Order: sequence, then structure tokens, then C-alpha cells
Amino acid sequence: MAAATTASPATAPPSSFPSTTRPILRLSRKFKLPAASLSPDPSPAFQSVTAFAPATVANLGPGFDFLGCAVADASLSLGDTVTATLDPSLPPGTVAISAVTSPSRPHLAARLSRDPLRNCAGIAAAAALRALGVRSHAVSLALAKGLPLGSGLGSSAASAAAAAKAVDALFGSLLSPHDLVLAGLESEKAVSGFHADNIAPAIQGGFVLVRSYDPFTLVQLPCPPALRLCFVLVTPDFEAPTAKMRAALPKKIDIGHHVRNSSQAAALVAAVLQGDAAGIGSAMSSDGIVEPTRAPLIPGMVAVKAAALEAGALGCTISGAGPTAVAVIEGEENGEEIARRMVDAFWSAGKLKATATIAQLDRAGARVISTSRLLE
Ligand code: HSE
Repeated sequence: MAAATTASPATAPPSSFPSTTRPILRLSRKFKLPAASLSPDPSPAFQSVTAFAPATVANLGPGFDFLGCAVADASLSLGDTVTATLDPSLPPGTVAISAVTSPSRPHLAARLSRDPLRNCAGIAAAAALRALGVRSHAVSLALAKGLPLGSGLGSSAASAAAAAKAVDALFGSLLSPHDLVLAGLESEKAVSGFHADNIAPAIQGGFVLVRSYDPFTLVQLPCPPALRLCFVLVTPDFEAPTAKMRAALPKKIDIGHHVRNSSQAAALVAAVLQGDAAGIGSAMSSDGIVEPTRAPLIPGMVAVKAAALEAGALGCTISGAGPTAVAVIEGEENGEEIARRMVDAFWSAGKLKATATIAQLDRAGARVISTSRLLE
């Protein structure tokens, strides 16, 4: 079993997610999670911790790279789970990956690297250990993938968030949510490009605004508890590599597009704060820059959006870099019918098979779901 020292993150583009691999972007020091920022070498609080992190919808239409939200279903199948266990057989201060499973997609586990330097969970866990200042203990990780790869549902961020959360809890939950996001961002920058609109909501839950990348500033958007926001997520059998979907975007936009998209993004934030589901839907549907560029690259996407709106969805767009289409509804009543119409449209217009899930806004983000006590 390969073990990663926590001293150095990925030195080569990770291979765990080949469809989304892109060159590592170097960050200025101010983005980096400070090593050993806490009291030196904290003691473990548990023998092992299992954490879950939800799927995320990045961009939300006009919020490219700066808005995202977490989504989950009642069975917690829409997310990834990581168990972090103290492992005295490893060199102190290291991380190893003992198992990768994918209960609902067994073929997927074989595509993921067990090398902790080339796996989202391993990179984020090592970053969390560094931030905690752990030097006397080592951790092995078991990753259970609930999310498909390259689907636009924040699969890499969910692995990273669950790993960072589990490692932090293993040592007494000393890191702040902001530190956990930075640990996850180490993984995101290595695996799927430098953007925080998946990892921030995967850690923090709910809607998160990435106000600034330099300095790195997040704003949690409070959303009234009475809002019954649901998401119809329809994922076609099609790969939309994030790197390719980012490369397709225009390098410059004109002032008219800027004004229109900025106003729609602001309207989306206002609608979230007001708990206005219809406002969220219409703003989410109004991206005039990224969605029009990417939609033609996903067969059937234009028709899927039209079908969702015709069936009564409040809004529809591409989730993250795609290929998942996300429609917003209030309550679940029409969810199955809207999902059926979207799946049919992917088939009739794009000749793509698709699967649908109906999810709720996940307000909790990454959380511990079980612990085991320290061995005597
Ligand atoms: N904001 C990113 C993008 C999300 O759209 O490329 C990728 O999941």
C-alpha cells in the first residue's frame, strides 16, 4: 500500500479522474492552507471516523465558478463516504488508501487510483493532516464512491470533502470550515481545475458564494428553512470532461453580457436569501455566457432544458461543467414527471440514455456519520 507523506501534495497531474485531469495550477502562497497552524501534533480523538459529503451543483447558471449549492437525497446515495482510520503500520505523518469501492457502479472503483497523491480523497486528507500539524500518527482511508465521475455533480469535491472532514474529526475537529475548504481545494486544483464552487458547498452545505479567490473569501447564503427547494438531476450516459468544458468557454465577453449575467447572478443571491423558489429558478435559467457555449457540446441538452420548463420546472441549466441537467422545483410533487420528460428528451434529442435523481437542498454539508472509539 502506497503511503503519502503530508509534506508534499500531488507532483504530477493525478490519474484518478482521467476525464477531468488538467495541469496543476500553481497558487500564490496566500491561497495555501498554512501547515501546522494549530497546536503541534494533536492527539487522536477516535480510532476511526466515517464522514459523508454531498453532491454539489456548481455555477447555478450565471454563477460560473462563484456560486454553488449542496444537494442530497434521503438515503445519502448522492455523495461520497470516507472512513479515516489510525494506522500504526504506516510511517507517521502519512496517508494511505486502503480501499476504494463503488457499490452502485462497481466498474468505477477500478478507475480510481489508490495512490494517495493521485486521488482526491488522499490529497485532501494529506492537506488536512498538514493543517492539523499531525506528525505522530498515520491515517488510512477507505473511499466509497456514491457519485459518478465527470458528471457535473462535484464527484471529486465530494471525495475531498469527506476525506478532509473525516481526518479532522479523527483528531478532534480542530479545523474551521474555511480550513476544510482550503484542504479540499488542494485536491480540486490538482484534479479538476481551480474553482471552489463545488468544494465550498460540499463542506459547508447550503448555498455558498465564492466572493473572492484572492483573498479567498466565502459567503454562506442563508436560505429560509421553510423553502422546500428540490432539484431534478438528470445525468446522461456521456462524458463531459471539465477541462474540455472549460476550454470551450469564451476568453472575453462583451459589456452587455457582463451586465446581464451579473444582474442574474445578483438576482439569484437575492432569491436564495428571500427563499423565493421561482426567483431562484428563473435566475438559474438565465445564464447567457457559459450555458449557451456548453449546451451544444452535450447532445440533447437544449431540448432537455425546454422539456423541463415545459413540464413545469421553475428553472433548468447545466450542473457544473455537465453533462448533468439540473431543474429546480418547489416540493417533490411534480419531480417524477419532470424527470421523465427530461430523460425522454435526452433520448429523443441526444440519443443518450439518462438516469434521474430527485434531491433536496443539503444544508449540512460534510458530516461525520459514525465513529469508533480509540483502542485501549
Ligand atoms: N465552475 C466549474 C465549471 C465547476 O463550470 O467548470 C466544475 O464542476
